[in-house]
Amino acid sequence: MKLTRTQIEQRVTALGPWFHNLDLGGVATAPGHFLGDYPRTKWKRFAAALPADLTGRSVLDIGCNAGFYALEMKRRGADRVLGIDFDEAYLAQARFAAEVAELDIAFEKLSVYDVAALGERFDVVLFMGVLYHLRHPLLALDLVREHVVGDLMVFQSMLRGSRAVCEAPENAAFADTEPFHEPGFPRLHFIEHRYADDPTNWWVPNRAGVEAMLRSSGFEITGHPEEEVYLCRAAAAPAGGGAVYPRRGAARRDDA
Ligand SMILES: C[S@@+](CC[C@H](N)C(=O)[O-])C[C@H]1O[C@@H](n2cnc3c(N)ncnc32)[C@H](O)[C@@H]1O
Repeated sequence: MKLTRTQIEQRVTALGPWFHNLDLGGVATAPGHFLGDYPRTKWKRFAAALPADLTGRSVLDIGCNAGFYALEMKRRGADRVLGIDFDEAYLAQARFAAEVAELDIAFEKLSVYDVAALGERFDVVLFMGVLYHLRHPLLALDLVREHVVGDLMVFQSMLRGSRAVCEAPENAAFADTEPFHEPGFPRLHFIEHRYADDPTNWWVPNRAGVEAMLRSSGFEITGHPEEEVYLCRAAAAPAGGGAVYPRRGAARRDDA
């Protein structure tokens, strides 16, 4: 049975506060968002760079929040869309949004560090707005590359610092400290306390930093349709040999 506008308004209030401003049957979920009509305004800037028809494709949305991007992928005809997030409150919002939109999308509680448990690769993986919330960002990228990216990864991160990208030396002498002073040297800024009132912001890269991290985790950057958005494909094995955790292989000695 279709919900009335009043019923939608009541559920939206009960499920709040919302980070995604969705339009649910004419009801806006986060009309006062500090970034404006978010993430629709961002989506409009890179939507054309993604396949318009996702028929026959599978999509994984990591850190899906209230499901804005999962909904858009389903609207493009994807066969299977799975949204994961480790926050039950956001997943409840996403499930309600899909119900109102009458779209068949699966949502599961799962951390990005546990993507191996899915046992499945996806044609399109969205990994948007999550990296800087992680204490272990490279581990997450390594795990995503190793376990779930089948073809395309759509990646986004908050970026701070220089937009320059310098030609970082592949190797430098120990005494050569100059490259570290270059504004375009790859950097991750560590947030010890809070940034923008959010205690879950940990590492904020500059542009050179995020691009280097993606490459180092075994991704080829194939597009950069919006300042913070990258299109990537799985490339050769990552520099460090892949995810270092969870450990595989030989049993612990004390288990033997
Ligand atoms: C800034 S929001 C981004 C939401 C959406 N992907 C977007 O781009 O609009 C970050 C989301 O990542 C989720 N998140 C943070 N750490 C996570 C983790 N370790 N595993 C899964 N989701 C996580 C948060 O719960 C939140 O929904």
